[in-house]
Amino acid sequence: MGNDGTNATPRLYEALGSSFDIGAAVSPRTLLQSGEFIARHYNSLTAENEMKFVNLQPVEDHYTFEDADRIVAFAKTHGKKLRGHTLVWHNQTSDWLFKESDGRPVCREKLLDRLQSHIKTVVGRYKDAIYAWDVVNEVIADEGPELLRPSKWLDIAGPDFIAKAFEFAHAADPAAQLFYNDYNESNPHKRDKIYRLVKSLLEQGAPVHGVGLQAHWNVYSPSLDEIREAIEKYAMLGLRLQLTELDVSLFRHEDERTDLTSPPEELLELQAKRYEAIFLLLKEYQVHIDAVTFWGADDNYTWLSNFPVRGRKNWPLLFDEQHQPKEAFWRVIGKPTQL
Ligand code: GLA
Repeated sequence: MGNDGTNATPRLYEALGSSFDIGAAVSPRTLLQSGEFIARHYNSLTAENEMKFVNLQPVEDHYTFEDADRIVAFAKTHGKKLRGHTLVWHNQTSDWLFKESDGRPVCREKLLDRLQSHIKTVVGRYKDAIYAWDVVNEVIADEGPELLRPSKWLDIAGPDFIAKAFEFAHAADPAAQLFYNDYNESNPHKRDKIYRLVKSLLEQGAPVHGVGLQAHWNVYSPSLDEIREAIEKYAMLGLRLQLTELDVSLFRHEDERTDLTSPPEELLELQAKRYEAIFLLLKEYQVHIDAVTFWGADDNYTWLSNFPVRGRKNWPLLFDEQHQPKEAFWRVIGKPTQL
């Protein structure tokens, strides 16, 4: 058997493919190291970082497409779908965007012009390769009564930078499916705010086609009821849904333990049960859900190793560090464990 779990192991996307596309976040590095394994198990890809603003336009009018192009080429060669991530965000966005050359803040018109030009260039370039974009990422405030989180976007352009971004993206590629994407999406307070925002965008006529539930979850939360209620609420908007960044951390958010060097059996069992329950739930709502993308391909590389606790390894995905299917994999595809 190859080191990518070949032969005996069914392909993940084929085992689940009648329900939804199965994606992974990738980088040129993970494609180089594990391209064969990724191509075997996933039929959709998202660039983990390479299509973010700062990666694509670090300096005004100086675009750096090399890494993003590598991912696009890989998707093309292997016949994979590709999601674009992400056009407007408060993180990983170049400072120059918000400033004049002398350091003063730009005016609203200039910021929106720059955004339009970025979107036109990027979305236009990948028109044939990318079928869906996360247009706006994480603009909702997690806590408190405010709808929107404070940001330079909001300070300078006011709240309608959100609708504008969708309009610009739609003009650049009228065929692309356009998503609003956020985390803590199953928390009732935040869920209701995301719903309110997207509803008001639709009422203004903004071209929003989907809600991305990031789904950075852990073995304890959110509860299945909360996930169910979130899916039902977003589906009421009449939009397509996708899980865009799924992972199931072995630790509660506030847990700061750093003692583990390998995942304990009991936590892997908890994770397997949790993944099984999550996918059973997702299948119940498959008429609304088009794709489930994992935020990584295997436990060898995951953003959760080091975050939010420095120096701590995490094991949040369906394949282990050697690309072998974990117990969670077998439960997700509804097959008995293979020994
Ligand atoms: C958010 C972003 C992603 C990524 C993760 C952490 O969820 O949408 O692009 O940065 O944080 O990896």
